[in-house]
Amino acid sequence: MTARKRCLMIGAGLMANAWIRRFLPNFADRTEVVGLVDVDRRALMATGDYLSLSPSRRFADMAVAFESVDADFCAIIVPPAFHKEAVMHAVRRRLPILSEKPIADTWPSCLDIYAAVKGADLKMQVIQNYRYEAPMLTLRQVLRDGTLGRINYVVARFAADYREYGSWGAPFRHEIPHAMLVDASIHHFDQIRNLTSADCASIAGWDWNPPWSSSKGEFCNLFVLRMTSGSYASYESSGTGAGEQNTWHEEHYRVECERGAVAIGRDRIVRTHRFTRGRGLVTEEVLPLKPAREGHNWLIDEFLNWLDGGPTPATVIDDNVKSAAMVFAALEASRTSQVIDVEAMVGALHP
Ligand SMILES: NC(=O)c1ccc[n+]([C@@H]2O[C@H](COP(=O)([O-])OP(=O)(O)OC[C@H]3O[C@@H](n4cnc5c(N)ncnc54)[C@H](O)[C@@H]3O)[C@@H](O)[C@H]2O)c1
Repeated sequence: MTARKRCLMIGAGLMANAWIRRFLPNFADRTEVVGLVDVDRRALMATGDYLSLSPSRRFADMAVAFESVDADFCAIIVPPAFHKEAVMHAVRRRLPILSEKPIADTWPSCLDIYAAVKGADLKMQVIQNYRYEAPMLTLRQVLRDGTLGRINYVVARFAADYREYGSWGAPFRHEIPHAMLVDASIHHFDQIRNLTSADCASIAGWDWNPPWSSSKGEFCNLFVLRMTSGSYASYESSGTGAGEQNTWHEEHYRVECERGAVAIGRDRIVRTHRFTRGRGLVTEEVLPLKPAREGHNWLIDEFLNWLDGGPTPATVIDDNVKSAAMVFAALEASRTSQVIDVEAMVGALHP
């Protein structure tokens, strides 16, 4: 049996606890947490105790942890504004990185991270768990098996009732500027790329905050996207959803194709809709795929295999930076009321 990969975990908050309690136990024979960092002492102690981690392996300062802990990789699970600091330490220690989305909270930080990781020739994978949920794998399979023909456009919708302060998990989401775009839309933009098998060429639209929102940052988005394949997408997302909910894991995606449409929504059932003159509309449920692993488990498995010389995962930094670019292009589109050339932003990474 190969030695277990030693993980330095940066963050002991809500998501880190999901990793520790729900995901990493599935990989107990392949990885172990050997160091834990959190600026919040209570979070550090509670999670450290759960892991039975010795006090000498619990750190309030990530710089000290990166200096002191011998690890095989690090997992970054702190708010986006601290991802760059963690990545830079990992690069100095030449540690492969498995990071929660998004790459970072600003485009300059994404560029710095990209340059540092690529410059050091390090492995970095970004968590995009929504690609790997069974219903989304099922929907993608319908698109890829060709029965509906070419993709015309995608309609994507996320709507959740976060009107009460603090109702969207960690409080930072009610505080940071452009919260919906920076913390949430990365999932949906990445999913649009995943479904269309294409990158975003350009984007236009706005993000804003209605006067009754309890958040400081913008909670609403409406954007239109042109993809490099010639298909299009429209994207609606709201943290002030007071009507039909399409919250996490229940997002609505409808893909209009040459010979029909395929859609998913709150009930997570994938349905095809085919209209023919004379026969009318035929709607059919698609048998769901049953992958051995889903979401984070899929990605952690991929990452550990990659460290052992296995195939390069789909959501490595080279790919994920194209989803991140969409977020910051959307911000710029909203700020300037202009169409933003996402291809040019990404192209600048490879002069
Ligand atoms: N993939 C998903 O579905 C998903 C879901 C939720 C969150 N996330 C991501 O996980 C990350 C963490 O989010 P969360 O919900 O756990 O937030 P959180 O606020 O619950 O936890 C973050 C933890 O980081 C700690 N922290 C903050 N600054 C730090 C620093 N400089 N050094 C060390 N620790 C620091 C905080 O004290 C907190 O305990 C974010 O990138 C978020 O976008 C991903």
